[in-house]
Amino acid sequence: TNTTVGIVGGGPAGLMLSHLLAIAGIPSVVVDNRTRLDIERTVRAGILEADSVRLLVDTGVSDRVHRDGVAHDGIDLRFGGASHRIAFKALIGESAWLYPQTDVFIDLADARARDGGDVRFGVTNTRVIDVTRDRPGILYDGGNGTAHEIRCDYLVGADGSRSICRLEVPESIRTHYFREYPFAWFGILTEAPKSATELVYNHSARGFALISQRTETLQRMYFQCDPSDRIDAWSDDRIWDELQTRVAGADGFSLNEGPITSKAVLPFRSFVAEPMRYGRLLLAGDAAHTVPPTGAKGLNLALADVRVLAELLERAILSKDDDALDEYGPRALERVWKAQHFSYWMTTMLHTLPSATDFDLRRQLGELSSVAGSVAGSTYLAEGYTGWPARS
Ligand code: DHB
Repeated sequence: TNTTVGIVGGGPAGLMLSHLLAIAGIPSVVVDNRTRLDIERTVRAGILEADSVRLLVDTGVSDRVHRDGVAHDGIDLRFGGASHRIAFKALIGESAWLYPQTDVFIDLADARARDGGDVRFGVTNTRVIDVTRDRPGILYDGGNGTAHEIRCDYLVGADGSRSICRLEVPESIRTHYFREYPFAWFGILTEAPKSATELVYNHSARGFALISQRTETLQRMYFQCDPSDRIDAWSDDRIWDELQTRVAGADGFSLNEGPITSKAVLPFRSFVAEPMRYGRLLLAGDAAHTVPPTGAKGLNLALADVRVLAELLERAILSKDDDALDEYGPRALERVWKAQHFSYWMTTMLHTLPSATDFDLRRQLGELSSVAGSVAGSTYLAEGYTGWPARS
């Protein structure tokens, strides 16, 4: 196959890029080694920034987010057993939206199918070649072991945190920035009514807990755990005891319990790969960066990457201005590092280090009450959470 842009990875980044390019009349082919069903069945985060919602609706992906998504005009920061609302809408006039990444993926995959996009799920043995030549290529095996080759003008690695495309950037010119944390998240789905109308980000000396939602009858919750914890060490009873203890306070707040239908220990780290461009290869989304989950920036950052990338590929291809792509790394990375800081800051402000001293815990309460009690502090949180506006 010959195309203009070859995209490795059919998650939200790859599909949104293909969609935006199609609007500009630029052909692309997307390959992914997972099946569509595999991707749909992976539980992911649930919060969209205001601009992510606008991107989905304004570019004609779907307006389902307006119907099935829920606008959240604030969050509760809970610490010392009391809730402190950060009122996004009142502070800055924006909201965040509860709309699971799985639904974003379904909307994008449906939109590509509706518009005749070439998206190939469930391929195997994907490799990329010739990324510094004129016509780089994607090689893969099809269903019955047949060899396939896609040649393109530009190759985009939107292939997630275990990216193969990222490895094409030679070690001599790449830098990988890392930060590991001495904790992880235990995530559950539970069949229970909502425990609160908005999300609760809860700090306690026993560790962080996040009370999120999916529907009226299905809820998503997370709690800080040890990265080496095994799922079977956490019975339903132990999970509810731990969650209830962490959120308890003088106001009597408690969680509505129900059967737990999903349990997983989630990876937790900060990572950035620079540069995001090498020759005709461009990296987008988790292939180029990972954030810790506190604040749900991952998907939003991936969508912000491809919004910039689509604009620059359009200039490179339609106006034959190859230099346009020099702007990609610097422009995308400005937001990436702001989001890295925001995710790191939310994480360290709310989690409890295993080695925390009494000084550390009291300092953290000082930080939380200075943020919650200050218009400047709350506004900073509101801007980061609902998303900094796109620069055009
Ligand atoms: C969810 C996940 C997050 O990491 C977050 O900050 C908020 C919500 C979620 O899965 O609902």
